[in-house]
Amino acid sequence: MKTFDELTLSAEVAQAVRELGFAAPTPIQAQALPVLLGAPTDFIGQAATGTGKTAAFGLPLVESADPQDKTVQAVVLCPTRELALQVCGQLNLFGKHKRVRALPIYGGAGYGEQLEGLRRHPAVVVGTPGRLIDHIERGSLSLAGVRTVVLDEADEMISMGFKEDLEKILKAVPRERGRIWLFSATMSKEVRRVAETYLRHPKQAQVNASERLSATVDQVYYVVPERDKPAVLVRLIELADEFYGLIFCQTKSLVMDLTQFLTEQGFRADSLHGDKSQDDRERTLRAFRERKTNILVGTDVASRGLDVKDLTHVVNYSLPRETEVYIHRIGRTARSGRAGLAISLTAPSHRALVNRIEHATKSRMTEGKIPGRREVALKKVARLLARFLDQPQHAKAAGLLGPEWGRAAKDMTLEEILGRFIAMTAPELFDEREKTLPAYQPSAHAPAHPHAPRSAHPHPQHRAPHHGGRKPYWKKKDRG
Ligand SMILES: Nc1ncnc2c1ncn2[C@@H]1O[C@H](COP(=O)(O)OP(=O)(O)OP(=O)(O)O)[C@@H](O)[C@H]1O
Ligand SMILES: [Mg+2]
Repeated sequence: MKTFDELTLSAEVAQAVRELGFAAPTPIQAQALPVLLGAPTDFIGQAATGTGKTAAFGLPLVESADPQDKTVQAVVLCPTRELALQVCGQLNLFGKHKRVRALPIYGGAGYGEQLEGLRRHPAVVVGTPGRLIDHIERGSLSLAGVRTVVLDEADEMISMGFKEDLEKILKAVPRERGRIWLFSATMSKEVRRVAETYLRHPKQAQVNASERLSATVDQVYYVVPERDKPAVLVRLIELADEFYGLIFCQTKSLVMDLTQFLTEQGFRADSLHGDKSQDDRERTLRAFRERKTNILVGTDVASRGLDVKDLTHVVNYSLPRETEVYIHRIGRTARSGRAGLAISLTAPSHRALVNRIEHATKSRMTEGKIPGRREVALKKVARLLARFLDQPQHAKAAGLLGPEWGRAAKDMTLEEILGRFIAMTAPELFDEREKTLPAYQPSAHAPAHPHAPRSAHPHPQHRAPHHGGRKPYWKKKDRG
């Protein structure tokens, strides 16, 4: 199947697909759509991150829903609130012209709005398991009319301990009419056991292990002692021509500390983790999607399914032990055919994890050389030219200069003036300390404070951040 026209889509849904700008189906869509648009069947779909699994189940879901029917006809289960919201948004786009409405139901949000939404008879409900069960038990949601249940990121919901909740929901759906679809880039043994229990002769579309990663992602790792990680991270961000990325940490406290550190360094960074209020989480993600911030530091709450357009980087502050976690994290970049760079920092003692991941994903990670401060500074200078040229206020600025400026520059050559400008803007180029501070190579000479050598940053904060009674982040152990 090469085009969407070859499918039996209704005019309304076909129109929605056109408006989304989807030219041709992705491989998983080409495999799944003809099956799921046909006779009812259970289904397992496994394909790499960012390859359009949402539409692979979403289009048939909307197509099978009857907008006149006042019952909830389909349920989509997601492991995180943000993902439920995102998938719900996608379904509403697919169902826009057919007037099939989806409602998000997830924890942390008020009940009032959800009850109100349920009273307006959505055809599809997209939610996290806990809150859905709350509504079922309160009697505000009935699954008696449900014909399709989709488990997006099925394996994650099981490893998060939602297995019993899932089973409760599956049992609330009349099985004689219902069908169950499982989707994820990874499938654990555990999820296969659930599938064996609840799915009947499922049809499958599966990619092999070597295709679980996006084909367009580059993977680089740097061996960095724990205490040097913040400074190395800053160098890598500054070295990038563009950095719009997610940085994953293993713990919430590390997320908070690293965000604070990056903010103090003048970066537009924010954090996403489970200790934030739901309102805050949503505000943060919205600002990141709108590029008001360009760095989002998060726990694995941000690792599954999130589709943020055109992320240039994903950073593993430490390598995760589980290959699945690695696959989903780095899958936030290099989506739908775009290029993306996955950077992993690993402590020397955890270097073996690199081989393990390479082996499991049948892919290569290259070892990166930690850039020196001079290299970073040269890159910054190279980027200055564009900014230098783009100064519409230069005439006004010149008008502000007193006569002493003219006198001072009178005998200078153009070269000298430009040289002074660069030296003033990037003094770290000539910082003698570089010689005595190999610093970010695994060595005994690492600086006491990870950000101490960054003397030329526009927002210098040369003091160690305070963290109440907590240990500062660079002394904490992160896994890997
Ligand atoms: N046929 C298509 N043509 C172009 N873009 C598409 C197509 N299908 C989906 N997309 C876009 O590709 C992006 C990734 O899709 P989606 O989020 O469904 O991926 P996924 O396979 O679910 O990934 P993950 O495993 O990370 O959840 C989305 O922005 C989506 O709009
Ligand atoms: Mg997905």
